[in-house]
Amino acid sequence: MVFSRQPHGFRGALLDFVDDPFYRPEADCIRYWPDGLMVVHNGIIQACGPYEMIRSQYSDLEIAAYPDRLLMPGFIDTHIHFPQMGMMAAYGEQLLEWLNRYTFPAEKKYQDKAFARRMADRFLAELLRHGTTTALVFAAVFPESAEALFEAAEARHLRLITGKVMMDRNAPEYLRDTAANSYTDSRRLIETWHRRGRLLYAVTPRFAATSTPEQLSLAGKLLEEFPDVYLHTHLSENRDEVAWIRQLFPDHDGYLEVYDRAGLVGERAVFAHGVQLTDAEFVRLSAAGSAIAFCPTSNLFLGSGLFPLEKAKSQETPVKVGLGTDVGAGTSFSLLQTTQDAYKVAQLRHQKLSACQALFLATLGGARALRLEAVLGNFEPGKEADFVVLDPQGTPALALRNPVPVAANVEEVADLAFGLVILGDDRAITATYILGALAYEAPEAGRISSSR
Ligand code: GUN
Ligand code: ZN
Repeated sequence: MVFSRQPHGFRGALLDFVDDPFYRPEADCIRYWPDGLMVVHNGIIQACGPYEMIRSQYSDLEIAAYPDRLLMPGFIDTHIHFPQMGMMAAYGEQLLEWLNRYTFPAEKKYQDKAFARRMADRFLAELLRHGTTTALVFAAVFPESAEALFEAAEARHLRLITGKVMMDRNAPEYLRDTAANSYTDSRRLIETWHRRGRLLYAVTPRFAATSTPEQLSLAGKLLEEFPDVYLHTHLSENRDEVAWIRQLFPDHDGYLEVYDRAGLVGERAVFAHGVQLTDAEFVRLSAAGSAIAFCPTSNLFLGSGLFPLEKAKSQETPVKVGLGTDVGAGTSFSLLQTTQDAYKVAQLRHQKLSACQALFLATLGGARALRLEAVLGNFEPGKEADFVVLDPQGTPALALRNPVPVAANVEEVADLAFGLVILGDDRAITATYILGALAYEAPEAGRISSSR
């Protein structure tokens, strides 16, 4: 990337989080500057705060100003499937039938590297168009599919985590690897791509049902050999799935224990769903420091159930949580639409989810779930300048809901932001920046550039 040698300023209303509003008073967690300025140098945030104060520290600063817009840290999607983007909205089935009938055939196409390359461009364009700047992504079983995604993410300088899926049973022959091949292919991908620029690797067994015990233990071996790669899989999503795992692993004390015995339950593990977890499993995840990707649009679409966020966020046994779109079982690429469904799931459980909590999950909470909070998740100086420019009036309904586009203070911005959580989608994304460089811009972006 060609960085300007000069620092660059971004002016607008700035909102971010510095701590977890599930555990601390919201006022201590949220930061809001109605007229703020963020200064970026070589892709890194150099300063951030009230406009007048920060501006006075620079004699000469090129500034992109976004009047009437809200700047937030880029959204973080902690669980999404690259090869499922073309099969969203597959009708009428719950998880296991949905996988067999729709998902497996869709993923077969990603053995073709040229096709995977074309789709990787569209996939990343779609993430950026929705304000998502980092994602933890399932590729397909074919190593080429992970390579295509890494190549496309590298070209865009994205911080992205992916991995080739490991699956050696209970799937069509055309989609199966073997325990030995999955080990050597994953290993080669790790050696090529992990920590190359901003890219990171996740060892990715699909779920316990599609891996033999031998494959799971080789996944554990990879984690031992490469202690800073991630583990990314599905866990306790659907009741029939949980019952099937019990049949497949009769000598294990539940679903999580299958992963645990293989050495997969650690600090860098991210488990998608967890809708059907037992209390003891929440305790174990908390002790292990593992994370859950809460995927409400998917859980509702597949009828999987209502994730008990309040259990994950308990005081006694806290579990890190991020939000996942889980496209293609998820029904939107938008983390805003995902927060909307997270709110509705909470309501159905007679719980509340504030805008502050929801947007924390979509930003700093996601960064913590992915153990990337040292480099991402808010506007702290020293962090990577991935951010999103939101239009609080981006749809007709939002324009009615938020008649004043810039909130005067923290209380008002919490209300405005709740409007975005419930009504927002891709139309509320004005622009997306990666390392301080424009990566997506809506047709009517409302940016004013000036140089002084
Ligand atoms: N469990 C195993 N594979 C999948 C998948 O592709 N999507 C979802 N939602 N759950 C899974
Ligand atoms: Zn999934």
